[in-house]
Amino acid sequence: MTRHVPIWLAAGPARMASSGFPRLTEDLDADVAVIGGGISGLTTALLCKQDGARVVVLERGAVAGGASGFTTAKASALQQTKLAQIRSLHGDEATAAYARVSLEAIAWMERTVQERAIDCAWERLPDVTYAASEDEVDAVRRTADAARAAGLEVELLDADVPVPLPFAVRAAVRLGGQAQFHPVRYLHALAALIPGEDCHVFEQSAVVRVHEGSPCTATTDDGHTVTAGAVVVCTNYPLLDRGLFFARTEAVRSYLVAARLNDGGALPGSMAISAGEPTRSIRPYVDEHGERWVLVGGEGHTTGADEASTARYEALECFAREHFDVAEISYRWSTQDGAPLDKLPYAGPYHPRARGLYVNAGHQKWGMTNGTVGAHVVADLIAGRDTPYAKLLDPNRVTVRAAPQLARAQLRVGTHLLGDRLAPAEASSSDDVPVGEARVVRAGLGKVGVHRDDAGRLHAVSLRCTHLGCLTHWNDAERSWDCPCHGSRFDPDGNVLAGPAVAPLQRRDPPR
Ligand code: FES
Repeated sequence: MTRHVPIWLAAGPARMASSGFPRLTEDLDADVAVIGGGISGLTTALLCKQDGARVVVLERGAVAGGASGFTTAKASALQQTKLAQIRSLHGDEATAAYARVSLEAIAWMERTVQERAIDCAWERLPDVTYAASEDEVDAVRRTADAARAAGLEVELLDADVPVPLPFAVRAAVRLGGQAQFHPVRYLHALAALIPGEDCHVFEQSAVVRVHEGSPCTATTDDGHTVTAGAVVVCTNYPLLDRGLFFARTEAVRSYLVAARLNDGGALPGSMAISAGEPTRSIRPYVDEHGERWVLVGGEGHTTGADEASTARYEALECFAREHFDVAEISYRWSTQDGAPLDKLPYAGPYHPRARGLYVNAGHQKWGMTNGTVGAHVVADLIAGRDTPYAKLLDPNRVTVRAAPQLARAQLRVGTHLLGDRLAPAEASSSDDVPVGEARVVRAGLGKVGVHRDDAGRLHAVSLRCTHLGCLTHWNDAERSWDCPCHGSRFDPDGNVLAGPAVAPLQRRDPPR
């Protein structure tokens, strides 16, 4: 039977409530408050602690229980076709810096794993971007060109050269010496290094308000405040509106399955990802019992688009069974990433006049390296050190060449903001909502989102997203209300699953 949980979190429920750290129950003083307990937040906190700072990490749910626990955990400088995209938007120098800092992040992670003896199945492997069809060959070639111009020693493989995958490809570019690992074991080890010397990690402590200045404050949903010289926002999608990140960042969902192989079934010899759509991201994994797995990801789409369905998982399962000797699809899960429209992550001051407020976010599916890179940049800035990558990742950069993407994104948001309000209700009564499904139900002159759970109970909420007021859409695959404008997500009772929203959807009575 397939469990709906990442393989990395298989020992617990899909969304762990806690990995053992307490909730914040008092006001505290610190030098640095870090919001978010994923790879960005924990790495930032650890580096600041190593600089002698008193650090407090505030995590909404459980450490490694968000996007960082739902990843494939590939650490690669190749990153599908990202280098070609960065080259076209930012030029050769920026592409070379991005590639270089990605390699530096991998080296730092490996040193940390070795020096701290972290048991996280760290493994160096080649990474491959392949063309599944003739249409994708050009993207592979442009990626190889960009990688070479950036100083990476890549090989361009064509149909005559064997690619370490069990299916034919039209072309591929390979970069040796990249890495993969078990993200939750790695992050739990990082988190364990933080407490002590006046440093703390708190779980179930959602920050709902940040004041910047000297000092800054971060206040949690139950009213406790951390007062600190600096606050770093390390949420997957930047939490606060004052940097206007929502206007230049898309929220993108993607899906994964973990397939256990039969005895004798061959593992792929590299990590791999297709250059085009539909994306297929592949990595091997051997667990602590010697079981061999292939993880297959893909089927990405903008959050809140009416495209989230269980058919996404079925497509990935079909691909896994077609190309690998699969005994069982044991796990499936989905995840969400903040994707800056100009293809570079954000690491640095939150806005041009920021006073003590920083961001490390927008990692666009490559958070293992980008979160680590951003942590180094922000820790350097807080410590007053020169950092060679601050300009590259400046959250307040203006990328003129990304103007068409920005215009398209604003048009899409505007269409949802107005158009969704005009759409008719899907049902006139909650009685019409089938078990396990949800409908937009007419309620007087308005509409209410109604879900009927597997036990037949009704859950009704206002559809109005508490971020900027777009109407949420039902996500059938995850049973959540997702906002198509900037990616906030809410459970069937309206509780926030993902920001930028921080307040829950209003609960309503189910219309009859
Ligand atoms: S996430 Fe911005 S309006 Fe919903």
